[in-house]
Amino acid sequence: MTLRDHKYLPYGRQCLDDDDIRAVVDVLQGDWLTTGPTIQKFEDKLRQTVKSDYAVSCSSGTAALHMAYMALDIGTGDRVIVPAISFVATANAAVYCGADILFADVDPDTGMMRAQDVVGLIENLSPEELQSVAAITPVNLTGEVAEIEAISMIAKKYGWKMIVDSCHALGSIYLSRDGENITVGDCYFSDMEVFSFHPVKTIAMGEGGAVTTNDQALYDRLCLLRNHGIERDAEKWVSASHSEIEKPPPWAYEMQILGYNYRQSDIHCALGLSQLNKLSEFTDHRRRLVAKYDQSLKGLSVYLKPMESARGGSAARHLYVVLIDFKALGVSRLDFVRELSSRNVGSQVHYIPIYAHPFYREKYGPQTRPGAEEYYARTLSLPLHVNMTPDDVDYVIAQIADIVTR
Ligand SMILES: Cc1ncc(COP(=O)(O)O)c(C=O)c1O
Repeated sequence: MTLRDHKYLPYGRQCLDDDDIRAVVDVLQGDWLTTGPTIQKFEDKLRQTVKSDYAVSCSSGTAALHMAYMALDIGTGDRVIVPAISFVATANAAVYCGADILFADVDPDTGMMRAQDVVGLIENLSPEELQSVAAITPVNLTGEVAEIEAISMIAKKYGWKMIVDSCHALGSIYLSRDGENITVGDCYFSDMEVFSFHPVKTIAMGEGGAVTTNDQALYDRLCLLRNHGIERDAEKWVSASHSEIEKPPPWAYEMQILGYNYRQSDIHCALGLSQLNKLSEFTDHRRRLVAKYDQSLKGLSVYLKPMESARGGSAARHLYVVLIDFKALGVSRLDFVRELSSRNVGSQVHYIPIYAHPFYREKYGPQTRPGAEEYYARTLSLPLHVNMTPDDVDYVIAQIADIVTR
């Protein structure tokens, strides 16, 4: 087999088997396609998996973020702190609510916002700006875990709410300062955490997302926001008479707040549930591939280094990132990516600093964050998904070795 005969390895891909397909077909042959019993089963399994009290599934990770910001009443006049490096949805969903974004810098070696980055941002805010900060949203980038505990202490000090964007990090575990194992999604240090189940993520639902929380009031509000603000439970109606509550007409419901159609379907949840049953198998496999990459990349070139694990504990990597000093290596990132692609190795860049996009440049003027720029200049995501074998990793490494030593 020549090098170019190797099958194309995308940077990320879903891993589906016959059980997944059967689970979806079962729902297709049943009575409920949209809001049926599988949604509750998926949510129960998710909250048990991440050890939160509540889980609300929805149509995407972006919808989950939007619902979370809305549940906190984030609105015009509020500011939300997000890391400069993330998918744009982390910031966009707060902008949907009318809030303004403050971009914190990130660790140039992990792309994640640290407590010191938040402190650095605060130091440069006017008292009026600081006063307007309503929430902060750290991102567990690549499946690694940000300085959640330290950032939560800052949030507490200033009275901010905290949402953790864990769209990359389902299945990750980390150590608290007390040496306790903390499961991503358990909301131990935050008000809510959000997940995405887009096919390249740790589990696939097609499109899908969820919010987890331990706060019943937030849970109730998230349920309303997901479905047009509609309350069907007469016990919870705000304008009903006693007799209506006693004997609600069968057609009746109340729209109590302005919500959206962010509902998930039974079809998607059947796939999600079947995939969740394999989460630990998936994450173990990903950890093995990551360990092999780490080992093989060591010593390949001084200009190329695997992104190191950010915290103690056990990350479930969604992305495998290498940091490459392209300038010193004497090859542009574009040429490197093209060369990999010609050898059937997919790659991707996660992410362009959010403030650099035209929408945000127009909104806030040109901005720059040194850590984010340094991370962005070097980052490249290599193939990492459950369909891959250790031999596939060897293949990717051999291609990189060939490119960097030419
Ligand atoms: C960090 C992060 N947040 C939010 C999202 C939005 O998730 P979705 O694509 O499911 O809307 C993504 C998706 O890529 C993401 O990577």
